[in-house]
Amino acid sequence: MKAAVVAHSKFTVSEIDPRLYGSFIEHLGRAVYTGIYEPGHATADEAGFRGDVIDLVKELQVPVVRYPGGNFVSAYNWEDGVGPREERPVRLDLAWHTSESNQVGLHEFADWCDKVGTELMMAVNLGSRGLDDARNLLEYTNHPGGSAWSDKRRANGREAPFDVKLWCLGNEMDGPWQIGHKTADEYGRLAHETAKAMRAFDSSLELVVCGSSNAHMPTYPQWEATVLDHTYNEVDYISLHMYFENRAKDTAHYLARSLELDNYIATIAGVISYTKAKKRSAKDVYISFDEWNVWYHSKERDKAILEGGEGWPEAPPLLEDDYNFEDVLQVGCILNTFINRADVVKIACLAQLVNVIAPIMTEPGGAAWRQTIFYPYYFASVFGRGTALKLMVDSPTYEAKDVGAVPYLDVSAVHDAASGHVTFFLVNRHLTEALDLDVSLLEFGAASVVDDQVIAHSDLQITNTADAPDAVKPVKGEEAVVSEGRLTASIAPLSYRMIRLK
Ligand code: AHR
Repeated sequence: MKAAVVAHSKFTVSEIDPRLYGSFIEHLGRAVYTGIYEPGHATADEAGFRGDVIDLVKELQVPVVRYPGGNFVSAYNWEDGVGPREERPVRLDLAWHTSESNQVGLHEFADWCDKVGTELMMAVNLGSRGLDDARNLLEYTNHPGGSAWSDKRRANGREAPFDVKLWCLGNEMDGPWQIGHKTADEYGRLAHETAKAMRAFDSSLELVVCGSSNAHMPTYPQWEATVLDHTYNEVDYISLHMYFENRAKDTAHYLARSLELDNYIATIAGVISYTKAKKRSAKDVYISFDEWNVWYHSKERDKAILEGGEGWPEAPPLLEDDYNFEDVLQVGCILNTFINRADVVKIACLAQLVNVIAPIMTEPGGAAWRQTIFYPYYFASVFGRGTALKLMVDSPTYEAKDVGAVPYLDVSAVHDAASGHVTFFLVNRHLTEALDLDVSLLEFGAASVVDDQVIAHSDLQITNTADAPDAVKPVKGEEAVVSEGRLTASIAPLSYRMIRLK
């Protein structure tokens, strides 16, 4: 089976904002406690942060991390997490039916961000709270000093402002499960007024307004039209979320779902254009896809805790999906979709980063390891910086229910003009047949293969565990070759591949 691709250095989608490879840490389950923070762990530093986790996060070169939620933020009082630790209250977290000790808050998380070399993307609570707390938090976080809230920060040990530039105006406010759920008009008005107040403090902030929690919400896509009608001129991004699952154990259909993602992005790009025209606005709004991942493996297990059957446990295991090899392919296709739509998707956050639906897992007091999905995320984040290329692709297809024709070959490519690398990210969706790949390389000079990485396995269900952390990992590809301006390779059935040229 053959697939042909044409790549030209001048045919581009857009420069990629490095924040396309962001992630997310929520106060949820063991993401924070026994995830990034575990005083007493053999690798913990003086502040209690796990060194093994810091190393793995650094390896991923995560450019931005959203915090502190998620659903958690919609009933969170940020003041609980600042000041002397012994005075911080224990609160009941209504989103995840757990107890929050508040031993990690803004100061500690910002320090952790500095340690791993990432930008902090902060969410404000527009569920149980509103404009006033958002502006207080902003003054606490970003004002140098000489005002009530900024002086509290200094008294709490942080002289220089945190200088957080990127802010989410609430989380999933369209969801009936959200504490303080609102209609699109209620939320749109509140988000507009909150954005206005935040901009009155600093007009250079980047603000993200909530779009839909998924494309199956009954309010989608009118939600986006209404919310942007209220907020278009005050915000920079509209957020979208989407999670993937394969409960039906139908691999072909599962791997077709990135086409739904593409359609979701295209629809909201249309709503943005419509609103821009309606407002006669000169400014652009982009998409912040600030929650995406596979999420289904742990859902049955979590019911007891979420339904309150275990009281209010502190940092219980929640949303601990054990990712399998099949999920590598799905995550590869999702990342390809974001790269191919880098013209409108500027920020995307893999939800989440540690223990909670995460590429990195830990055992309390024990090991940290890379889940299977660590690898496609790693390859995209580390090697997918530069300009997304507009590829011409000719691939055989298959039919998937509710999706239509799905190409067997899923592909994106990134050109880093500064270093001269061109990197192809490929997934073969075919269950049994290899794809003979033939890429015409136009205007790329005399390129040759400098790296070729393959992730493949005969068992779709296999996972990486503490005892077998390397069950799924990339191996060097052998036969990709460039000759006379053509890259050729055989892409094995159900495999992920990264091929770099220079
Ligand atoms: O990432 C897990 C949860 O999924 C988030 O808290 C919420 O925003 C979404 O529903």
